[in-house]
Amino acid sequence: MFDAQEFIRRAVREMQEQVKGKAVIATSGGVDSTVAAKLGSMALGDHMVAIYVNTGCMRKGEDEKVRRIIEDMAIKLRYVDASQEFYQALAGVVDPEEKRKIIGEKFIRVFEREAVEEGAEYLIQGTIAPDWIESGGGLRDTIKSHHNVGGLPEDVDLEIVEPLRDLYKDEVRKVARALNLPVAEKQPFPGPGLAVRIIGEVTAERAAVIREACAVVEEELEQAVEKGQMTLPWQYFAVLLPVKTVGVHGDRRAYGFTIAIRAVESVDAMTADFSRLPWEVLDRISTRITNELHQVNRVVYDVTNKPPGTVEWE
Ligand code: XMP
Repeated sequence: MFDAQEFIRRAVREMQEQVKGKAVIATSGGVDSTVAAKLGSMALGDHMVAIYVNTGCMRKGEDEKVRRIIEDMAIKLRYVDASQEFYQALAGVVDPEEKRKIIGEKFIRVFEREAVEEGAEYLIQGTIAPDWIESGGGLRDTIKSHHNVGGLPEDVDLEIVEPLRDLYKDEVRKVARALNLPVAEKQPFPGPGLAVRIIGEVTAERAAVIREACAVVEEELEQAVEKGQMTLPWQYFAVLLPVKTVGVHGDRRAYGFTIAIRAVESVDAMTADFSRLPWEVLDRISTRITNELHQVNRVVYDVTNKPPGTVEWE
């Protein structure tokens, strides 16, 4: 049985042994990085600064949420808006692995730059076991090089510290609960962010579309849960497809994008079942997305389990 308290004691001790100078923590407001930040601050106190990089691929309202979470833990926060840098680096790129590589590379370069200004030598990351196992770090083939693993360039000047490296998602949540963190029940969000939910090229305009579509999915599902219509899926989001289909808008022919809705039940992200969402909830999501996003005229629901599908489409 996994013992969260014992894990916390050991992780804090090991970080104190490994980290001999100033550290920065890559924070995204997600469960993993928030737990890593808390452990880091318990181990290192003021010798750790949280850096939040806006990659232009974050969810709606994420900036504010992250600020609040980090400040509530009394951790110093450095905010960096690098969205234009990321869009430039991603221009014309459609291959998912290439996207991850570029995002991973850019991410670490931005971090290095900011870390130097902070005088830090260590980078704490919230990498968890499925990240590196599926990235080819275990006995399996590379399924996806999760950006915080496979995308890392080799010549990084910071020493990487990964306190959650051996944990699975359910164990990270247990640690989050043991630490009383408000993110314990938050759904996972991939490191490369919305970039892997835009099939095809990532642009500022497409990022704006998927950001809104994901927000609609989150709002509608969370409201349906509040009304007692369903339980919250393990993960739920929208995907922007590069497929245009014919539809009608008013009395005119429209040729617009397709949004796929994905909602899954899982325990550890290694396998997943698609969620049996109520039709009326899907109806509301579809109606809102097509009303609010004029570029979109079709919404589909993904009924694939993992395996053979993965949770994200890229
Ligand atoms: P997949 O799509 O591999 O997703 O079935 C399993 C879980 O991992 C998340 N995911 C990622 N997380 N970097 C991450 O940190 C990534 O590149 C990445 N790709 C997928 C996904 O959201 C799901 O929770």
